[in-house]
Amino acid sequence: MRLKDKKIIVTAAAQGIGKATAINFAKEGALVTATDINKEKLAELAKENSDIQIQQLDATDKIAVEKFCTSLDDVDILFHAVGFVHHGTLMDCNDDEFKRSIDVNIYSAYLMSYNLLPKMITKGKGNIIIVSSAASSVKGAPNRFIYGVTKAALNGFVKALAIDYVKQGIRCNAILPGTVETPSWTGRVNMAEDPIKAREDFIARQAMGRLAQPEEIASLATYLASDESDFVTGTLNLIDGGWTL
Ligand SMILES: NC(=O)c1ccc[n+]([C@@H]2O[C@H](COP(=O)([O-])OP(=O)(O)OC[C@H]3O[C@@H](n4cnc5c(N)ncnc54)[C@H](O)[C@@H]3O)[C@@H](O)[C@H]2O)c1
Repeated sequence: MRLKDKKIIVTAAAQGIGKATAINFAKEGALVTATDINKEKLAELAKENSDIQIQQLDATDKIAVEKFCTSLDDVDILFHAVGFVHHGTLMDCNDDEFKRSIDVNIYSAYLMSYNLLPKMITKGKGNIIIVSSAASSVKGAPNRFIYGVTKAALNGFVKALAIDYVKQGIRCNAILPGTVETPSWTGRVNMAEDPIKAREDFIARQAMGRLAQPEEIASLATYLASDESDFVTGTLNLIDGGWTL
């Protein structure tokens, strides 16, 4: 029970990394509110895990985020996993696609943090964990132009937030996964011209010769959420099977 009674908001919790993390947090005794834009998949999560509260929430919707955050009495931790992968180079990324990735990948993190941080500051303790990516300021990945740009921005976001609020008891860290076998990753691979080769290429680039499972990211998230990591702030935690070695 490493997270006993900690009140945690998880975004993008209906599948993949967010879902695995919400489940792990709850197993460790946290009081989890799982949020996502996808109502149906959230309902499935609640059906399988009766101890997890669910709330449909579009993390890019200012009014909805304000309303949701105002409704909370108390919060200890934000685990923010909302993210979207745009495939392509700079020349493949038009105005709308550029703005969409900024909105989903960066603005959502700002909105959630902006609305939850005051509650944490009032308590004198808080913890924000942002899911970034190894494909960011750490590693240039082919055809991940705007994705890498936005994830690099999140790395800066974490450092900036960590330094500005460290004296008020707030910690802020990032998780930078390599390739994780999640539904959206599987969907992207299946859409490739040659899905079998696409899968092999993804696996080959991980030095360990395999992909990560969402539960492995959840383990790192649990450490960062727990008091075991109380001296850890402003860090970019790579979990990439050696991709960036
Ligand atoms: N899967 C990977 O290989 C990988 C690698 C590095 C980083 N990441 C990052 O991890 C995070 C989660 O990735 P994943 O692959 O587990 O996710 P996923 O794509 O499988 O699931 C994403 C979830 O986010 C939800 N969502 C999308 N837009 C939303 C919005 N505006 N508001 C609320 N919810 C929204 C979707 O409904 C979905 O349930 C993302 O930030 C992603 O960039 C993933």
